Parts: sequence; structure tokens; C-alpha cells
Amino acid sequence: MSYYPYQSRYKKMIVGTDVLIPLTNGRYAKEINFDNAATTPPLISVMKAINDFAPWYSSIHRGSGYKSQLSSEIYENARKIIGKFVNIDNDFSTVIFVKNTTEALNKISDKLAQSKKDGIILSSYMEHHSNDLPWRKNFRIDYINITKKGNLCINSYANKLRRYNGKVKLVTLSGASNVTGYKTNIHQFAELAHKYGAKILIDGAQLIPHSPINMKSHYDSKHIDYLVFSSHKIYAPFGTGVLIAPKDTFSRGTPTQVGGGTVKMVTPSYVIWDDLPHKEEAGTPNLMGIVALQTAISTLSKIGMDEIENFELKLTQYTLDKLNKFKDVIIYGNERDCNNRIGIITFNIKGLHHSTVAEILSKEAGISVRSGCFCAQPYIQKLLNLSPREIYAHKNNPYSPHPGMVRISFGLYNDYGEIDVLIKLIKKIIKNKTYYRKKYPCKDYEIFNSARY
Ligand code: ALA
Repeated sequence: MSYYPYQSRYKKMIVGTDVLIPLTNGRYAKEINFDNAATTPPLISVMKAINDFAPWYSSIHRGSGYKSQLSSEIYENARKIIGKFVNIDNDFSTVIFVKNTTEALNKISDKLAQSKKDGIILSSYMEHHSNDLPWRKNFRIDYINITKKGNLCINSYANKLRRYNGKVKLVTLSGASNVTGYKTNIHQFAELAHKYGAKILIDGAQLIPHSPINMKSHYDSKHIDYLVFSSHKIYAPFGTGVLIAPKDTFSRGTPTQVGGGTVKMVTPSYVIWDDLPHKEEAGTPNLMGIVALQTAISTLSKIGMDEIENFELKLTQYTLDKLNKFKDVIIYGNERDCNNRIGIITFNIKGLHHSTVAEILSKEAGISVRSGCFCAQPYIQKLLNLSPREIYAHKNNPYSPHPGMVRISFGLYNDYGEIDVLIKLIKKIIKNKTYYRKKYPCKDYEIFNSARY
């Protein structure tokens, strides 16, 4: 297989890729950012769009001046751009702007809880806390089991749907895991959900920036009912999130948040709520965030989401092939290939705490990764096969060291040269564990059983 171009041709499209990071040896290295699952850096096109638009920036739906009219038009047009990007069914769905994925999930949960708290929410053990805790807050929840390798178990899913016999209100799953990178076969899961009368929600936080998605027509049994995602993971900071939902979820009743922009009429004794999506967007909307998001979507669409996915998976396969050569490296999830996944790899180095490895990568080579539990503690507990006793130890002492992993997550601007720097350093770390343990002392070692990482 050819791994060229050695440098990503997309690097020049990203802000900050040549920033120098101070190292412990007093030198500086160009940052290598392998933490894109947490936050991606901005696209240059996004920053330019923000600057170009700034002189025209004004209030939305609140002013009669030219700038205000223009701002409102741009804001409303963004819904169409986003709808097209994920192929929504405009007759049935609405695009609501929120702060991020977490807010979107809380909003849907709170809205569904307004009507009836009966029915079961079916989620999985693979979820980010944001696709678990908002449901626990309002509903009875059950979890689809995962396989030994940490992937969703379709048999467990089918069995639970059958057993609950039409009582599952909503199936809510990650489109791709932020821990193992597993991609959910969303249309297969959607078809089964609909067969049993449930709706399906896809948490697209990790999927949308790295893979094409098609929500499909509501007349297609494989359609996706709800989709949520964040702009800060798709090269567009400024704090916007997207919530796409069937209109009938939000059209009736009181908005989840009330205030300016949500009403048609207010008197001292009654309120007439505005139409969707406005009734669910209380307060002045985040127009700069929307400009950023729609610019990122148009830049990524020009490259092509298939092309982005293919490129990132080539990087992933290259890294897996190299990591698999180290017997001291344990990879979680699918350690071999790129079937149904995005560019995320989690691992541990035997005998070193995950936080130490992350610290070494940063301080010795300017490599940014995330380590720990990635806001997905139940999933990590299962992947690490922790005993109830080990889990309970943390309940008694929340400050005790958390078991966890090191995560590499790619973006479209990463390249093979950067992976080679990582692999070379991992090789050095494995050869010199004692040296690095002394150089980067981790208080966790005193109480930490290294077998668990
Ligand atoms: N959910 C983000 C992550 O996985 C923040 O790092």
C-alpha cells in the first residue's frame, strides 16, 4: 500500500499546525495534534469567514436594519446547508441550533419527559456520558450489551427490543464511539428500532466530522429520527451545536427553555409560543457560531466526506500496523483493521500509567493526545474488564487514580510523518520505562496496580 502523500495536503487549510510547543529538554517542537475527538482546530476558511462577516454582524429576527436582515437570512439559510449535508427530510424534521451535543441531548430528554415519562430508553454501554446521563435523569434506561471486543451486540439489541415488546420509546446510540472509534451501522439499528415502534437518535458528535451520513426520508424504514452534533469537533469553534428532530417532538407544549425569541404573543395572563424552530431557540442566537459551522461544512463538502473518511482510515491502518508490532502495547476494540470505524485508536503501554504516557508524548515530542476515561466510564470499565470491587474502590475514594487509556484521534490534516514521530517515541518509551517513570513521576503509582493501567 502506498502511504503518500507523506504530508497531508489538507494541513495548510488548518490554523495553528506550525505552532511550536515547549519540550522538557528546553527545545521546541511543532505540535502534533492527535486529540481531534475532543476538539478540532479551526479551518482557515472558518476564521476568514468570521472576519469577513464581522462588519455585517447584527441581531437576528430582532431588527429592521439592513445588517439585521442580512444576519437573519444567513442564520436561516444555515439550516438548509446543514439539512442538505446530512440529508434531512424537510417535511418531517426541524433543525434547532443549540450550544453543543450535550445540550441537544438534554433538550430532547427534557422535551420527551414533558409528555410522559413512561416507556424505556434503550442506549448502550458504548456511550459517552452525554448520551447516558440526560436519559437517566428523566427515564427508565436499559443498555445494549457490547461484545468481548467492545462493539455493539446486535443480538442483545434485537432481544431487548423483542422483550420490551413495543415499550421502547427511543433507541439512542453513538454514530461512532469516542473511545474505540467503532462506527455503528446506524441504518440497520434504525430499521430494527422502527420495526418495534421505537424512534432512533444518533449522537453524531464523533461521526459527522469524519464520515458521510444520510438521515434518509421518513418513509424509509432505515431513516434516522434524531441527529445531534457539535461544531467544535468539525473545525468550527464558537460554541454551536445542532439538534435535528421530528417536528412533532417539539411542536406542542412549552419550550424546554423560555424567554426572548420563543413567542408570538405574551400578555399578563397567557403566552402564544412561536413556531418551530424559533420556539426552541431562547435568547439571542449564536450567529458567529453558525457562520463558522456552515463554512466548515461547505469546506469539508468541497473535499468530500468520502475522501476525508478514506484518508483518515489510511492513517489509522498505518498506525495500527505499527502499534501491533509492539508486544507491550495493548489496543482496545478492533486492533487489526478499519472495518466500520473512524480514526480513533485507544491503547495502553504495559507497566505505565496512561497519564504518564500522555505526559511523555507531550513533553518529549509535542504530541497532544487525551488519556483517561474520555467521559465514557462504564465503557472503559468494561473494556478494561474491571471487577466490581475495583470500580467500587473509586466510589469510596473518587480521588484515587482512575484506570484509563491513551487515545489517538485523527483529523483530516494529520499525516504519516506525524505518526512516525509518535511510533518512534513509543518505541523509545517501551525500551526505557524505568527512565521515564523516574523522569515523569506519577503519584498514582503508589496506590495504582499497573496491571490495570
Ligand atoms: N467527548 C469528547 C472526547 O471524547 C470531549 O474527548
